[in-house]
Amino acid sequence: MVTLLKRATKIIEFPTRMDLKHIQAPVAEHLKRFEPYFDSQLQSPNRLLTLATRYVFRRRGKRMRPLLVFLAAEAAGGVGEASYAAATLIELLHNASLVHDDVVDETYTRRGQWSLMGLWGGKVAVLVGDFFLARGMEMALDGGHYEILRIVSRAVRDLADGELSQMEHARKMDMTEEAYMGVIRQKTATLIEACTRAGAASAKASGEAMDALAAYGNHLGLAFQIRDDMFDYTPGGLFGKPALNDVKEQKMTLPLIAALRSAPESERRALTRMIRLDPKSDATAEAALEMVSRHGGMEYAREKMGRLAAMAVDDLSALPESPAKEALKDLVEYNMGRTV
Ligand code: IPE
Ligand code: IPE
Ligand code: MG
Ligand code: MG
Repeated sequence: MVTLLKRATKIIEFPTRMDLKHIQAPVAEHLKRFEPYFDSQLQSPNRLLTLATRYVFRRRGKRMRPLLVFLAAEAAGGVGEASYAAATLIELLHNASLVHDDVVDETYTRRGQWSLMGLWGGKVAVLVGDFFLARGMEMALDGGHYEILRIVSRAVRDLADGELSQMEHARKMDMTEEAYMGVIRQKTATLIEACTRAGAASAKASGEAMDALAAYGNHLGLAFQIRDDMFDYTPGGLFGKPALNDVKEQKMTLPLIAALRSAPESERRALTRMIRLDPKSDATAEAALEMVSRHGGMEYAREKMGRLAAMAVDDLSALPESPAKEALKDLVEYNMGRTV
């Protein structure tokens, strides 16, 4: 197993000189002010909620969505009060979706610690996720940020739809590349697109700038999820998440979809049978890894991610030059090399 994992990693190494600090620079002040603003939305008189909330945010994550909101706002005219509301709303909903996602995926680790689901079980996790969701909506309504709320609600609706549709394909074991792209657009790219849209809306962007930033968000979001899925076939996975977990849930992602497509019929049938009958065993995980590594699953996924990344950079050409626009470009490169 270890040797196989080593082989799989070699293929996807993607060195990058980009670090997040450099990308954050044009909006560093806003990101700093964002933290207390965000925390102030999470007060609750309930002891268990306070404990659970503190626990979840002991590890804050990359804060990539607030970064995107601020960079998009800055690139489209300038960060304002509404940009903070957008960043807070989206980060809250993102965290709600992760807390719920770990229930759906039965995942016990997140951000290098026990997931809420792992520590306190699904019932608590569902309710805490609901609390984040409701707090986000309440805050946006109180501030009168209706346009932002509309953009984000649509994305969250899509997210739920995408997660369900992924489950349905897992159950039927009929995931194709086309269906996979639809699922990741719904479950991930729409929320990332909502970041750039809401950021642009918060800066009262022109129609042209809005369209460019929305298209960028969509392409970046697709590339982002492909990166995440590639790591399931890599030692250690992305920081703090388990590897080789997807196949246990009968979840077919791009590296495996592409490999199965190139494999001879007999191999394809044998593995599909294993995944159908015994998805949680080590033997099945090993066979899936072997399939991905032997039939170029990682190379295919990397190439597809590269094409989406190039499209994202291209989308930005309609925007005037600015440090924020450069940072958005660099974020595309950062994503391809990220390990967290
Ligand atoms: C994880 O998102 C969920 C996906 C869409 C793959 P992030 O990788 O942005 O999560 P955190 O907030 O940094 O933990
Ligand atoms: C992305 O799904 C997360 C959401 C859309 C909520 P995954 O299940 O692939 O993400 P991770 O790997 O658990 O973060
Ligand atoms: Mg999931
Ligand atoms: Mg998951």
